[in-house]
Amino acid sequence: MSPHPDSAVVDQHGSALSSDADDAAAMLVGAVKRYGAGESAVAALDDVTIAFPAGKFTAVMGPSGSGKSTMMHCAAGLDRLTSGRAFVGSTDLSTLDDRELTLLRRERIGFVFQTFNLVQTLTAEENICLPLTLSGRRPSGDVLDQVVSLLRLGDRLRHRPSELSGGQQQRVAVARALVARPQVVFADEPTGNLDTRTGQEILGFLRSAVDEDHQSIVMVTHDPNAAAWADRVVFVVDGHVHDVMDRPSADAVLDVVKGLGR
Ligand SMILES: Nc1ncnc2c1ncn2[C@@H]1O[C@H](COP(=O)(O)OP(=O)(O)O)[C@@H](O)[C@H]1O
Ligand SMILES: [Mg+2]
Repeated sequence: MSPHPDSAVVDQHGSALSSDADDAAAMLVGAVKRYGAGESAVAALDDVTIAFPAGKFTAVMGPSGSGKSTMMHCAAGLDRLTSGRAFVGSTDLSTLDDRELTLLRRERIGFVFQTFNLVQTLTAEENICLPLTLSGRRPSGDVLDQVVSLLRLGDRLRHRPSELSGGQQQRVAVARALVARPQVVFADEPTGNLDTRTGQEILGFLRSAVDEDHQSIVMVTHDPNAAAWADRVVFVVDGHVHDVMDRPSADAVLDVVKGLGR
């Protein structure tokens, strides 16, 4: 394994991270995000150092307002850190100008939102292909077929979002996030608007994308049962990483969540 290009920076933050940094799909190092100024300033992220491993499914949990969405947005290049660094693979996002950041998001990152965020005037297939269309690429037929069959969307491709159920819309959103074969997919409470059964279905698809297609996924969730689908759970409290659990069970996750006292 080759050393991470920024191993000096990484090493300042301890060996726990440097062992993960080489095969991180994305990583935050000493990440601080402040909103507002002076007395009313809020540190949504307060010195967060965490690596999200490539080819793994990571869940992020924590009380409301603890900084989970901020963490995802800054790691995905949707927002910029106040200080510290965010890496996608070995690319330091702070070195990119806005245009380069937009390209990186389009080509190397997938995002799934709680509220699906599909374009209502486009069909399911057009929505799925949108990230590629925007960057002037065509989906390879194989990859499109694979994603569509993984998500069982074959008979829905010509439908518009208003003609689809919530679960179907979220499957389209997951397909859109996967079709460009991004280096990492971030999902912010992707099952938050779905009933339990439909939510389980989405979690199963995310799990197969990791197991069968070696995707790297980072997902925020409030639900210990959802977190148990992941390989690792990162617990965030007050803008800090409070704890990390590997091979989580729903019961073990629930115990930690109860200990957070909220
Ligand atoms: N755009 C913003 N402007 C000001 N404060 C914000 C903004 N976004 C988030 N915050 C604050 O940052 C903290 C973390 O928010 P967030 O990352 O959304 O938490 P979570 O996703 O864990 O609920 C909260 O105190 C929230 O009020
Ligand atoms: Mg949030």
